[in-house]
Amino acid sequence: MLAELNATQPREGHDAEGRRQIAFFDAKQYDLQSFSATNDDSFQLIAIESPLNEQTVSAAAGCKVVCIFVNDEAHERVIARLAELGVELIALRCAGFNHVDLEACQKYGISVVRVPAYSPHAVAEHTVALMLMLNRHLHQAYLRNRAGAFVLDGLTGFDMYGKTVGVIGTGKIGQCVVQILNGFGCRVLAYDVQENPEVASLPQTEYVGLDALFAQSDIVTLHLPLFEETHHLINSQTIARMKRGVMLINTSRGGLVETVSLIEGLKSGQIGYAGLDVYEEEAGIFFNDISNQVLDDDVLARLMTFNNVVITSHQAFLTREALDNIAETTFANIAEYFAGKRGTELTYHVG
Ligand code: NAI
Repeated sequence: MLAELNATQPREGHDAEGRRQIAFFDAKQYDLQSFSATNDDSFQLIAIESPLNEQTVSAAAGCKVVCIFVNDEAHERVIARLAELGVELIALRCAGFNHVDLEACQKYGISVVRVPAYSPHAVAEHTVALMLMLNRHLHQAYLRNRAGAFVLDGLTGFDMYGKTVGVIGTGKIGQCVVQILNGFGCRVLAYDVQENPEVASLPQTEYVGLDALFAQSDIVTLHLPLFEETHHLINSQTIARMKRGVMLINTSRGGLVETVSLIEGLKSGQIGYAGLDVYEEEAGIFFNDISNQVLDDDVLARLMTFNNVVITSHQAFLTREALDNIAETTFANIAEYFAGKRGTELTYHVG
């Protein structure tokens, strides 16, 4: 059981032993294991099972630092309340920061830090796992064989060797994906607003414009952040420009894909496969056990009816190595703050 915080419990930012208290929202057992193993006893984690939002924000009372993950809501009203409670630092234990209102943080004098790289390999390997699972119908084979239906009809895949893969976003994760695909003998078409020379120098890899990437790729995989300009990058128009039967993989952020258009693409056969580790409305669903409840998200429900769609619930990062790196960098970020650094003085500041 997680130690759920009693919001009314008085705190002064540290416990009786002088350990700095951190309000640790959306706490899961795997987080607490890696953070406890890494904690040198300078900090006390106040584990709060609920994600941060307007209803739960008071649980941060007394802490100068809150630690949050990808589906916590740090919009202006929450930030204003955090400031009122005396919070001075938001320590993101993730790379993406699209869910944090940075302007509001600046307005209220709250510093924000993140973990820019914890294991690009973890996400890249999960990305390729989704490609292979869909291509070789492993999700279907697993269920069939368990039911004693040891038949192969409908399970025909394709060789990865020689196929063209479009990689959009060639930063840390995209680069690892390209390197793995090189091993398969794929041809890679890369697109990024800022070309990565290491990627450009890899064999069978070239940077092209988005039009060429969409038109020629058998698989399109997304490794760019979610910003206003990248929101719904994959929509009905861009889907129409892709090869018929294309495989789409998204392990970046759900908002990059307009899900309703994806569903239309799957229904028409324009999209042949979709592997999704993220979903634009995942907050409140992913990371939660709702197996005893009615799923009231009709879009996700429809998406899950396709036998050529595999959904994982934002687990691409989830390796032992990544969790340990997240804990180490987060504690180092928080230690810098307590050593007096603020805002842009912090090594992994955001905004
Ligand atoms: P990164 O910052 O190293 O690379 C992102 C790349 O996207 C950069 O090269 C950047 O130039 C490029 N980019 C930015 N705007 C673009 C645009 N409009 N068009 C094309 N390219 C653009 O980030 P990293 O570490 O590779 O992460 C990529 C994304 O993966 C993150 O933003 C995050 O959303 C997601 N992620 C998902 C995880 C999961 O568990 N599913 C875990 C960690 C990250």
